[in-house]
Amino acid sequence: MDRVYIFDTTLRDGEQSPGISLNVREKLEIAEQLARLGVDVIEAGFPITSPGDFEAVTAISKNVKGTTIAALARAVDKDIDRAWQAIQEAERPRIHTFINTSDVQIKYQLRKTHEEVLDMAVAAVKRARSYTPDVEFSAMDATRSDVGFLYKIFAAAIKAGATVINVPDTVGIMLPEEFGRLIKDIRENVTGIEDVTISVHNHNDLGMAVATTIAGLENGVRQVECTINGLGERAGNTSLEEVVMIIETRKDTLGLSTGIKTKEIIRTSRLVSRLTGYMVQPNKAVVGANAFAHESGIHQDGVLKERTTFEILDPRKVGLTKSQIILGKTSGRHGFRQRLEDLGYKLTDDELNKAFEQFKILADKKNEITDEDLEAIVAEEARSTSAIYKLEYIKTCSASDETPEATIKLKREGRVTEKTAKGDGQVDATCKAIDKAVGLKPNLLSYNVSAITTGLDAQGDVSIKLEIGGTQVMGRGVHTDIIEASARAYLNAINKYLSK
Ligand code: KIV
Ligand code: ZN
Repeated sequence: MDRVYIFDTTLRDGEQSPGISLNVREKLEIAEQLARLGVDVIEAGFPITSPGDFEAVTAISKNVKGTTIAALARAVDKDIDRAWQAIQEAERPRIHTFINTSDVQIKYQLRKTHEEVLDMAVAAVKRARSYTPDVEFSAMDATRSDVGFLYKIFAAAIKAGATVINVPDTVGIMLPEEFGRLIKDIRENVTGIEDVTISVHNHNDLGMAVATTIAGLENGVRQVECTINGLGERAGNTSLEEVVMIIETRKDTLGLSTGIKTKEIIRTSRLVSRLTGYMVQPNKAVVGANAFAHESGIHQDGVLKERTTFEILDPRKVGLTKSQIILGKTSGRHGFRQRLEDLGYKLTDDELNKAFEQFKILADKKNEITDEDLEAIVAEEARSTSAIYKLEYIKTCSASDETPEATIKLKREGRVTEKTAKGDGQVDATCKAIDKAVGLKPNLLSYNVSAITTGLDAQGDVSIKLEIGGTQVMGRGVHTDIIEASARAYLNAINKYLSK
């Protein structure tokens, strides 16, 4: 089997999704889980873009072992120097430098000649090589570039010392067959290409990122750039879980393998969803809530008789288990801790005590506590620990002949502020009361509520996107009462904005 290297860019391209803003602690947590998942390269960030990104890449480089840590840099000295400063303590550091190569981007964005672009690429690779032997060069918008120029710049980058050549479909325009042919042509026409790894980095604007990536693999690509849950700029990037499970499920035809521990896939997907606030659509391949659910009688009948009648993936392969320990209000701390550990959470005693308290409150309201409920409790606790404003109290009143009203109490550094407001509905009144208490006027861009589990006693999971002073932020909140879940999500977004 030919080995495919998995390059994860959740923390770089994934973080470019509108509204995602992860702090250093959250990025470190995701990077640690990516290492557990077995990715070969973690693109930890773009250090020149902000002090926060620099700090996160530095922390990941110091703490996350067993994988290559890459930092992104434009093809300019100051970016490359900053990238190196951030990754120099990594076990295996990589500088990933890129420059636009399509005529449209060279003309309108860079405003340079092709010769100047080529010189910049060569100088950047050389500078990066003076720091580390592992240098990746990307031709941004490769798929809309003049192919002759592409061959030339790739050959020059290889001569200057690049060890990985990346061919991004930056705007997601390629048909799979076309992209496969481009890779084949690059392999046949670029001097020195046989000595380097060919990589692809495809965007999903037309929903073809995974398909074009597979076409690349069929034509000799051996590094795939991808993100958890397909996060990324605009419509996102190639989804890691999909491409890995295609390689695994269709090894008969593709003859490829990866080093991914597929049993960690679900856990990684949920962690990323929880920390970014981006929910996974239920019908998403591999990690969606319905990916292994069978609804119709014919399908249920088939699967009950023999799983493979309608299931090509074994859910256990991606880390889904049916919990054997049923947690309810009579369960003790031991069973609770054990279940959390089985789910991959290692909490401190203090965190465990707080989560256990919340579990008991929930168990009083719900008969059976599922794994999804437990994950929601841990997520809520983590959000509340790092919150600037904490929700202390909420009361809402509404009747068909009265304007809804909400009263909230928020605590900040020991001081409690109480505010009341009226609104179009209870959620609206609650958000207005929060606005009064924090002194901000956010613009609500999206609001989404779903149930974590089935049943009328299920917890509501609210995801919110706000725009505050030109910045977009996402928030998430979970509670059995959807008004309180909404208040928590709204406040979570405000807290994220304030901590930025
Ligand atoms: O989409 C793209 O071209 C990129 C490059 C920086 C690799 O993200
Ligand atoms: Zn990209």
